[in-house]
Amino acid sequence: MLTRKLIFAVMFVLTLAAGAVYAGGDAARGLELSEDCVDCHGDNGKGDEDTPAIAGLDAAKHVELLKGYQSGEIEDEDEMMLDYVADLSDQDMADLAAYYATLE
Ligand code: HEC
Repeated sequence: MLTRKLIFAVMFVLTLAAGAVYAGGDAARGLELSEDCVDCHGDNGKGDEDTPAIAGLDAAKHVELLKGYQSGEIEDEDEMMLDYVADLSDQDMADLAAYYATLE
């Protein structure tokens, strides 16, 4: 009985810890993932006449946008984003968002 409680307690703490990492996002990993984004959004995320700038975007807002494209909630007018967000995990999105939030 005690062991069981202990296991639940440990699992609970681990879940919290994982949540904290997720919420923060890993900017270094985001930089690696961003190789898929630079073709359109540019090396520094500044975009061009066809592509919106994503540099300096608030991380929470960025994740919200990516999730929006993935779920189809945001209509992807030119169908440019869909392919690139389709395979992203929540962690990938958090990492990408953390990285782009570090840019000007
Ligand atoms: C093939 C070109 C292309 C690639 C690659 C691409 N994007 Fe985009 N992105 C666009 C276009 C174009 C838009 C504008 C909306 C639309 O028409 O799809 C956009 C919109 C966005 C937006 C919304 C910006 C806003 O202010 O509304 C975000 C955030 C974004 N992209 C992030 C990313 C990330 C992160 C990656 C890499 C995983 C990526 N994009 C890869 C072309 C691209």
